[in-house]
Amino acid sequence: MQIPRLHPDTIEQVKQRIDIVDVISEHVVLRKGGKGFVGLCPFHQEKSPSFSVSPTKQMYYCFGCNASGDAIKFLMESGKRSFSEVVLDLARRYQVSVQTLEPEQRQELQRQLSLREQLYEIGAIAAQFYQHALRQPQGQVALNYLQSSRQLSMETIQTFGLGYAPAGWETLYRYLVEQKRYPVQLLLQAGLIRQRQSGEGYYDYFRDRLIIPIADTQGRVIGFGGRTLGEEQPKYLNSPETELFSKGKTLFALDQAKPAISQLDSAVVVEGYFDAITLHAAGITNVVASLGTALSLEQVRQLLRYSESKQLILNFDADAAGTQAAQRAIGEIAELAYRGEVQLRILNLPEGKDADEYLHTYTPEHYRELLKAAPLWLDWQIQQILVDKDLKSASQFQQVAQQLVKVLKQINNSDTRNHYLCHCAELLSLGDARLVPLRAENLMAQIAPLNQRPHPNVQKYRSRTQSNSTTKSFPAASDRSLLEQAEALLLRIYLHCPEHRSAVSDALKERDLQFSLSHHRFLWRQILAVTSSQSNIQKVTHHLTPTATSLDLISRLQVCCLESETEMTQVSHLFHVDEKTQQDLLRATYVIQAAAACMERVLCEKQYRHFLELWQQTDPEQEPERSQFYYQSLYKEQRRLQKLDRQRQFSLTDLI
Ligand code: UTP
Ligand code: MN
Repeated sequence: MQIPRLHPDTIEQVKQRIDIVDVISEHVVLRKGGKGFVGLCPFHQEKSPSFSVSPTKQMYYCFGCNASGDAIKFLMESGKRSFSEVVLDLARRYQVSVQTLEPEQRQELQRQLSLREQLYEIGAIAAQFYQHALRQPQGQVALNYLQSSRQLSMETIQTFGLGYAPAGWETLYRYLVEQKRYPVQLLLQAGLIRQRQSGEGYYDYFRDRLIIPIADTQGRVIGFGGRTLGEEQPKYLNSPETELFSKGKTLFALDQAKPAISQLDSAVVVEGYFDAITLHAAGITNVVASLGTALSLEQVRQLLRYSESKQLILNFDADAAGTQAAQRAIGEIAELAYRGEVQLRILNLPEGKDADEYLHTYTPEHYRELLKAAPLWLDWQIQQILVDKDLKSASQFQQVAQQLVKVLKQINNSDTRNHYLCHCAELLSLGDARLVPLRAENLMAQIAPLNQRPHPNVQKYRSRTQSNSTTKSFPAASDRSLLEQAEALLLRIYLHCPEHRSAVSDALKERDLQFSLSHHRFLWRQILAVTSSQSNIQKVTHHLTPTATSLDLISRLQVCCLESETEMTQVSHLFHVDEKTQQDLLRATYVIQAAAACMERVLCEKQYRHFLELWQQTDPEQEPERSQFYYQSLYKEQRRLQKLDRQRQFSLTDLI
């Protein structure tokens, strides 16, 4: 589309209508801060927010990169769009009529924009019609229902624009088409009327129903929900999908809930229109309702835009079917939760009540308390698995364990998974602390059998080598070469850095380590032999510099080992320092710890396998004590493995 030259009036009107917070919060998660809002700057990489938006000045400014401007500039820069494109878009959004400098172009443009715009207009007019009808004699029953059964005030009825669709077949049709001269086609496209199946003519889609207008985030009416006042089915009739309205993409009351969601930094999703309305009326306004469908990713993204720490609480019915309903309703966002991209909590109200019913008996404060105490989605799932289960029954125990494993398997983050694994192990131990390690190992074995467990360091190394082939230090192709590297590093440091010799000896002693490769063991023996005789000499020649002593040590070793030619050729490379090893030596303190941890890990893993084998060969029924002992031993080794991995990881981070 060719962009027309815009009339200056249009630009001016757009500037007057736009709200910078609205515009920017569609791209950046904003949180209240100071006089305005703050968030992460979209124009440069940053971890703490230095991007501020001032609603009073209608300007943004980043303290990090000095980006600044108004809403139009923001959209131009962030979307790489021209001034006219942005203004046109905004004109459409804020319903500013577009005037261009060339009349023909203006017509073309209006045609393109008009359908959506006309649908917004007809939505607004229809909503007014229904609201008016609610206040007429024909709407008396509906109004009574709202005020008595639903206990809503006139103010709330007004805020949500609630209305009544009269009982006749074509009251809205007559009003809009015959009186207001709107085209029939437009009403059909708005989903407000339908064509009769037999014969000519049209009839109203909503008849004798309470009307709940559904708005988009900017408060424009895009559809309606209609509740029966009697026993008709369905209980709720919703607008069909239209150019503007899509059930799966819309959240009821989001336009009203936006400010509270950013202020409280969390959003509550309830199931029913009236749950949302009643909560808002009670002053709990960070609440939206899904429209009877599973939550879609798009809906959740819309919500999370307003919550910086991505907190979402689902308040769904909790009856027997409700649990499954909640699982279903969570739909696609379970993935997000397992990945830790949303902090999902589940609130089930007592006695299977929905929020609306609950607030008829309890106070808003009670509800707030429950919100605060709502369990995280993972805890909730675990609770659900345990409901009404007797873990003393073997078959139920097994069933529960299996279901827990299923949940644990899906947690991607290893820290989170370990946390829940321990939690589940405790649950399955029924208060007997001695059983915890056993249960934990059992769960662990089912989640990832030992031989399939990724070696954290190896993985880390691999992913790095893929992106950066010049990676230095431990090439972790296999445990053996890892071990070889580690041992060689320790020896090299010992040989070339006299100031770190005691650190090397201490690390070996503290961890009770031996060199495991025979040529390394050989060299170490020689070193010990030479140094013990040398230390006697040093007592006399203490004026020697470190370099002199290391050269001295190396040449003495070379002399000593003249007869052991095979071993010598295997270790002689350690006597020289090239550029790469030079770097390792500069970071000797880290390297020593990492290398020692690496050596210890190999031992530890051996122990672990040893105990695992013993335990597997022991029948827990016949020899419970022994079985228990093996389990505890292997659990201990496993803990140690984890600790060593952390040490290696830590040191390696500094290395690579
Ligand atoms: P519920 O059946 O749980 O009803 O529907 P509710 O909200 O508690 O209804 P009240 O309190 O009796 O008025 C929850 C939501 O599911 C959608 C609506 O969005 C409703 O608010 N729904 C339900 C439909 O779309 N159609 C239906 O027939 C029923
Ligand atoms: Mn209800």
